[in-house]
Amino acid sequence: MTTLVPMISQEEIKQKVKKTGQQISLDYENKELILIGILKGSFIFLADLTRMITIDHKVDLVGVSSYSGTRTTGIIKFTKEPDLELKGKDILIVEDIVDTGRTLSALLNFFKTYKPRSMKVCTLIDKSERRDVPVEVDYACFHLNEGFIVGYGLDYDQKYRHLPAIFDLKL
Ligand code: IMP
Ligand code: MG
Repeated sequence: MTTLVPMISQEEIKQKVKKTGQQISLDYENKELILIGILKGSFIFLADLTRMITIDHKVDLVGVSSYSGTRTTGIIKFTKEPDLELKGKDILIVEDIVDTGRTLSALLNFFKTYKPRSMKVCTLIDKSERRDVPVEVDYACFHLNEGFIVGYGLDYDQKYRHLPAIFDLKL
């Protein structure tokens, strides 16, 4: 039987995303901010975060898929590349979860080739104790060390993304 145990409420998410948006607005004043959402997991977080940022900024999306067979080498495939000009811009990668760090590490190497002026990372969930690859996260709404969570964009087998809060999935 599959059980969904409530973990982070809608209200908690709302407060944290608002705070993060306010901090980003302060940090990126007078910069050329571009949020880059990583599909699909970040789509709900990105939609809420962009509306909590009070300074001018642009939004782009990239699609990425990692294969289980190549995960260890950190090889990822882009299913959608960025549309906007990133050269000389201040890019902020918006992720759902940073877990082993493999996906993010590959993404950072990829975005470096666009020669942005600065590159930082914002994630909804940071599972920092589970890193295999050392990557730095600049903004994290929540920290988590165990469990597999779903909802608010996060999926298990493409399901549960629509849930408005975050749940611990017990299989
Ligand atoms: P990693 O950092 O390369 O290990 O991969 C992180 C990705 O794995 C995230 O972007 C999610 O798509 C997925 N992921 C890791 N932990 C969870 C979880 O608890 N729930 C849903 N997806 C997860
Ligand atoms: Mg992901």
